[in-house]
Amino acid sequence: MSSLSLTKPPVINKTNSLIQACTKVIKQKSASFHIPGHKSHKQFNHFLSNGQSYDLTELVNLDDLYHPQSTIKKIETDLSSKFGSVESIISTNGASSLIIASLIEIAKFGTRVIVPVNSHVSVINALILTGLEPIWLEPDYDENWNLYTTINITKLKNTLSNNKNEQIAGLIITSPTYAGDVSNISQIAQICQEANIYLIVDESHGSHLLFNGQESLSALKTTAHIVIHSLHKTLSALTQSACLHINQKLPFNTNDLKNNLKLISTSSPSYLIMLSIEESLKNLNSENFISVNNIQTEINQNLASLNHIYHYKPNHQIDSWHILIKSNSITSDKLASFLINQGIYPEGLIGNGVLLMLGLGSQNNDSKFLRKALNAFKESKPQTNSVSPKFNKPLPLFNQVMSPRQAYFAKTKTIKVADSLNKISAQNISICPPGTPLIVPGAIITQEIKNNIKDLSIKIVNV
Ligand SMILES: Cc1ncc(COP(=O)(O)O)c(C=O)c1O
Repeated sequence: MSSLSLTKPPVINKTNSLIQACTKVIKQKSASFHIPGHKSHKQFNHFLSNGQSYDLTELVNLDDLYHPQSTIKKIETDLSSKFGSVESIISTNGASSLIIASLIEIAKFGTRVIVPVNSHVSVINALILTGLEPIWLEPDYDENWNLYTTINITKLKNTLSNNKNEQIAGLIITSPTYAGDVSNISQIAQICQEANIYLIVDESHGSHLLFNGQESLSALKTTAHIVIHSLHKTLSALTQSACLHINQKLPFNTNDLKNNLKLISTSSPSYLIMLSIEESLKNLNSENFISVNNIQTEINQNLASLNHIYHYKPNHQIDSWHILIKSNSITSDKLASFLINQGIYPEGLIGNGVLLMLGLGSQNNDSKFLRKALNAFKESKPQTNSVSPKFNKPLPLFNQVMSPRQAYFAKTKTIKVADSLNKISAQNISICPPGTPLIVPGAIITQEIKNNIKDLSIKIVNV
């Protein structure tokens, strides 16, 4: 994910190379509130100073990610013992690949899966690949911040009882969400156990929860079956580092999941990424987490003293390393642009807020730079902006008339969005971040969905 999608598309300078563009951002940036969690801190990923040498492949004695026997096996065993799982596996293709690999496995146990509408795009991709049919579930919605929050237990129970005759394989939920909202996973796991279905928790945003004093929020402390972590989001590992924890004894094991992973992943897994996962396990010490928690406390105190900035503090549980703010006078894209101009790089726009993410590499100075920028924002007295936030109400539940797989692989045509009313979408359109779908293959494009797609300046769609 990136903060590049925060504002209007940048003016394309065709003479700039990617390295020039990256160098410019690095020079401009004084504080990193975005993923990856190492925040480019030199204290982490030491091998990168000699990165070219360590960019290796499966040479003698270097083990094999998909059939690990020695060093890579040890990383996975260490992961499992640090996170307290039954077994764990790593991936160099992000949590996205592990979400798909687990849904491929689940598809062996039923034809349908319960999918909250705030699920990450990789879940929708898995539906296309597996043929699993979604039963959509609407999480609770925060009207003030325009975002989905936690799984609504009553709706989950109703969904299960309304679909008693379906072959439901499982439920996949996102917790924490992109804004940090944490669901009552213990209760959800209990409900899944009673219904005899698998519970997969996409805990991509919560790899740090066991270590920063919020362990009771982690799905690993519940009877959820599978828990997936995106290790690069808040820990020190490199982008695309991820792991999957089997959290209970299951009728399948890590070999089965590895086979699924092989179907959809590169056959040349990056040793740089695997080395960074190995190193990230050594960084799970309390001093590192206390240091970030102190920064978080200082930021929270600063925010509490600013009456021109609101801080997202819902009534339910929330991960403290996700800090969502908005202004009382200006839209979030303008606030984000202002911050970027001051060298403060947020993670993205979530609902109508700006998300600031902490990670293991967060620095003391980050809090000071943020305070200075937010004070400067007050001084600059930006004009009240009349532009309303995009999608300022829950998206309509999808009217699924065929499975995502059927629609994706059907004969399709590309038409103007303007002509798409009541057509069946053959594609998935997601806003990134948070990567949740506006429309999925096999669902009807209603007037509201059509308007939302148009609001994203998308002109054509496959139907
Ligand atoms: C909720 C959620 N799940 C899964 C992912 C995918 O993680 P990865 O980037 O490691 O593939 C993301 C990425 O932003 C996410 O926000």
